[in-house]
Amino acid sequence: MNLLEENQALKTMSNHNLGTSEDTGELFVYVDGKLLGKKEATVSVWDHGLLYGDGVFEGIREYNGIVFKLKEHIDRLYESAHYIRLKIPMTKEQMSNAVLETLRQNRLRSAYIRLLVTRGVGDLGLNPMNCSDPSIVIITEPTTLGEDPTSKPIGVSAIISSIRRDPVDATSHEVKSLNYLNSILARWEAIDAGVNDAIMLDTQGFVSEATAENIFIVAKGQLATPSIDSAILHGVTRQRVMEIAEDLAYVITERRITPFELINAEEVFMTGTLAEIVPVLKVNGRNIGTGKVGPVTARICGEFAKVRSKTNEGTQVYPSETKGEELGATLRTRQ
Ligand SMILES: Cc1ncc(COP(=O)(O)O)c(C=O)c1O
Repeated sequence: MNLLEENQALKTMSNHNLGTSEDTGELFVYVDGKLLGKKEATVSVWDHGLLYGDGVFEGIREYNGIVFKLKEHIDRLYESAHYIRLKIPMTKEQMSNAVLETLRQNRLRSAYIRLLVTRGVGDLGLNPMNCSDPSIVIITEPTTLGEDPTSKPIGVSAIISSIRRDPVDATSHEVKSLNYLNSILARWEAIDAGVNDAIMLDTQGFVSEATAENIFIVAKGQLATPSIDSAILHGVTRQRVMEIAEDLAYVITERRITPFELINAEEVFMTGTLAEIVPVLKVNGRNIGTGKVGPVTARICGEFAKVRSKTNEGTQVYPSETKGEELGATLRTRQ
């Protein structure tokens, strides 16, 4: 990868084209049942989400009026909440409707959605019993990142971080919690090393995942991805990519992967809701395969781009639409 490509990849990974405060300033934010302007959309400094990272969240995408895998994201949110004993004060259906209504009020067709549930207001002590009702926040921002049909996947470089993913008997990696400190420390290592992202290992030294993406390798033409016992998050994109790989008749296994296998793989790519599918071309200074985007990665990227905005991949935001394009001209989209 030359310097130009490297810079482009860095920009893609770090900015995610989510817009600036000026051009998203008018968007409503859902806070506990109210749609508020950006300045009014605040939570208390006594909220344990802020004081202790006590809460859960989801990052979700809307493509052309369809919220990709909304049900799966809502299910994961409620599972994370159940695990940390946080009772969300609305049903899954009400939560889905709140997401859809926020998108409608903001007239968004292609968006990134950040859905948070915090423990709520408490005192300065840790005790979650002293917290009042959880707070629910839904932020939506326009993005069409990766949606340009002519754009080709850009590869990134990574290091293997010294920071390990949380084991199951700690703050389990399966909870998508408001505490991302191990990912943040790993990302600092990537920044210091001048690369785009960091790949983290589990406590036994097997490959786990990147700071906010799952990992896949291609070795001897077959796909593999770390299994749940390697401290991964149950990624929604990972699941869809595994199904795509099966549909394309690739052999795909969930198993433990060593750093040696990662570095000697023919291809490596990462998956996540916002970044979608990102080829990894270099790890710890070594080229992966040819050092270019490989054929399996390119094929899976192409297939994902074909399916992601199909009606049966998620939930329709504007139910009165018969054809996706009809409202398109009047609704807000941004490159
Ligand atoms: C630690 C971690 N792993 C993996 C993922 C990818 O999951 P998904 O595909 O559901 O976005 C994320 C997404 O935010 C993440 O934070």
